[in-house]
Amino acid sequence: MSAAQPAVAAHPLLEAVIETKRFGEHTVLEETLLRIAHGEIVSLVGPSGSGKSTLLRIVAGLDRDFAGTVALDGVVQQGPSAQLGVIFQEPRLLPWLTVADNVCFPARARDGSGKRAERLLEEVGLARIGGRWPKQLSGGMAQRVALARGLFSQPRLLLLDEPFSAVDAITRMRLQDLLLSITRAHGMAALVVTHDLDEALLLSDRVLLMAPPDGSHAARIVRETTVDTPQPRLRDAIVDGRLRSQLLADLAALAPTSCYAYPSEI
Ligand SMILES: Nc1ncnc2c1ncn2[C@@H]1O[C@H](COP(=O)(O)OP(=O)(O)OP(=O)(O)O)[C@@H](O)[C@H]1O
Ligand SMILES: [Mg+2]
Repeated sequence: MSAAQPAVAAHPLLEAVIETKRFGEHTVLEETLLRIAHGEIVSLVGPSGSGKSTLLRIVAGLDRDFAGTVALDGVVQQGPSAQLGVIFQEPRLLPWLTVADNVCFPARARDGSGKRAERLLEEVGLARIGGRWPKQLSGGMAQRVALARGLFSQPRLLLLDEPFSAVDAITRMRLQDLLLSITRAHGMAALVVTHDLDEALLLSDRVLLMAPPDGSHAARIVRETTVDTPQPRLRDAIVDGRLRSQLLADLAALAPTSCYAYPSEI
């Protein structure tokens, strides 16, 4: 398995160079280079514990305790940036704020932001619900609100950590379509952490595979796969069977044996 050689332009939107990331004595990530081009969608896949969320949090500026740099358009970042929108697996809405105020939260509800919140809610398919409370929303609606909040600062890069894994299959498809249409409409790039290979192949220009620690190495990116199939991609046909089989084989090779063993082998 070869190390990733990101094939993005000489002037990427994002360039994260992580020499090492430790939690206490434990080195979790090492020798990780992540580049994302303007407008590019990149998925990050890998077994549990391979450092996907750790890498995303570093890129988001939420974890600054690492050796390396994160640069946006060549400018080294020192923490969270309005150029980045972050969306997690759970919507993380504040229950004491209305839906509209949750969307405006990144701007702490400045003048005119209410109208902007309504426009963003409309864009994610939730017109006229700005006055509702988070507890009145379904999981899929709440995740759309989280997406609207992530878009509030007009970011250039969306960072999404398993964003659709807690919703039903149909809602998930709609949210995937929504992500594609929004990134296209705004010329935004996205980094999507997912365990779903079909989702990765549906959404992404590139899929990066992360390997968990193996005794001699910490977690790191070990393979880069370019998905050439033009968008829009068909959901009822496998996007690229050859790539899918290769990714599945790579994942199986990386995961602890017991995860993939038949019951008789455990
Ligand atoms: N706050 C923390 N303190 C100590 N160790 C941590 C912390 N966060 C993550 N780790 C460790 O770092 C490694 C990578 O974790 P991370 O959450 O990034 O994996 P992941 O690929 O996102 O996994 P999953 O697919 O299960 O979400 C794991 O070994 C985990 O135990
Ligand atoms: Mg994770």
